[in-house]
Amino acid sequence: VRIERDFAELPRVSCAPQQIKQVFLNLVLNAGQALDGEGTIRLATRFGGGDVTASVEDDGPGIPPEIIDRIFDPFFTTKKIGEGTGLGLGIAYQIVRSHGGEIRVESEPGGGARFEVRLPG
Ligand SMILES: Nc1ncnc2c1ncn2[C@@H]1O[C@H](COP(=O)(O)OP(=O)(O)OP(=O)(O)O)[C@@H](O)[C@H]1O
Ligand SMILES: [Mg+2]
Repeated sequence: VRIERDFAELPRVSCAPQQIKQVFLNLVLNAGQALDGEGTIRLATRFGGGDVTASVEDDGPGIPPEIIDRIFDPFFTTKKIGEGTGLGLGIAYQIVRSHGGEIRVESEPGGGARFEVRLPG
């Protein structure tokens, strides 16, 4: 798996760093699991409109439209028993919301997945 980094200069953000680390760990783990050994993960940050945004994008299989509305639900998983609890994105969602931010996903089947986290700067 290849990792591409595209980091902009960012202002300081007031946050709980361990929690925010957990968010990006969950997103990068998911991307890695989706790629299953082959592909690219792209990490990017931007600053604009007073907000910091950070995205995690992979060029894996993407997320089927029929489940995309449920992926942030706690315990929703498509992984085998023992491989995933389905908590990763639920936790990420709660952490981002508690920081006054927003987490969004864009995906087309076969076109990879892109998660974007926006935090007030
Ligand atoms: N980058 C991605 N590409 C394709 N599907 C994804 C991606 N990220 C998440 N998903 C889908 O969203 C579901 C929920 O993700 P979430 O991280 O909440 O749980 P999980 O990865 O299944 O388990 P856990 O994170 O607890 O190990 C996944 O099972 C998968 O179907
Ligand atoms: Mg996960």
